[in-house]
Amino acid sequence: MTEPAPTELPGPLLSRLAACARVVVLDQVGSTNDYALGLRAAGEPAVVLARHQTRGRGRFRRHWYSDDASLCFSLLLCRDHPDFPGSLITHIAGLAACRALESTTGTKPLIRWPNDIMLGEKKIAGILCEARGNGVAVGFGINVNQPSFPENLPDATSLLMATGQTFDKLVLLEACVKETFAALDQAVKDQGAALLTQLKERSAILHRRVEVKTLLRTHIGTCIDIDREGRLVLRTDSGKVLSLSAGDVRRLR
Ligand code: BTN
Repeated sequence: MTEPAPTELPGPLLSRLAACARVVVLDQVGSTNDYALGLRAAGEPAVVLARHQTRGRGRFRRHWYSDDASLCFSLLLCRDHPDFPGSLITHIAGLAACRALESTTGTKPLIRWPNDIMLGEKKIAGILCEARGNGVAVGFGINVNQPSFPENLPDATSLLMATGQTFDKLVLLEACVKETFAALDQAVKDQGAALLTQLKERSAILHRRVEVKTLLRTHIGTCIDIDREGRLVLRTDSGKVLSLSAGDVRRLR
């Protein structure tokens, strides 16, 4: 891997983050998830932050728009521990991102299962969890100070577009990292019980009519629950109840 040039973080923030993880700050990188997975989890968590990603990706290998106005970072965790809540990690990160956004910006984001962070009908952030060996990279892409998006992204919004204000990406970064560790600790302690309650409260789709596209087919119905494994429980219009562990969800009117 070519080592991209490191950049500087303000000292106090760096020491606070370094208290919970190894910190790598890059000016530019293909994808912070790839970089984090390349570090190999040595037990110690790491935060990889990039000012700019050239090959940022989202779920299903879609391109993730990442310019200088975005906050793009990955948290590398080690999944060796027997209590590591693997099936819930995307939900833990999504909830942490919502809490961080709420406490630092006053917005009230909701989660469109499983990984889209929404302000109203628009997407403000996305989470991408990927595993390699014993490492899991939890990637956060948050649209912060973009005044607009290209026409091919009509569903995207940023904090600037939603509130009219610019925000400090590093304040948001610190809040996301802290909230993720707090939510992880809680999930390990209570096997995800509190997380599940909070996920349902933060859900943009629970009890709503939705279309869910999975790899094999498209289902239409009502989201009736999110189960203990973090799966979406859908009652289809034909009366079947399905538990889905992956898919793309669109809310129907
Ligand atoms: C999605 O909504 O599909 C997930 C988007 C995740 C984007 C982040 S940006 C930091 C990390 N690096 C990547 O290449 N992707 C994630």
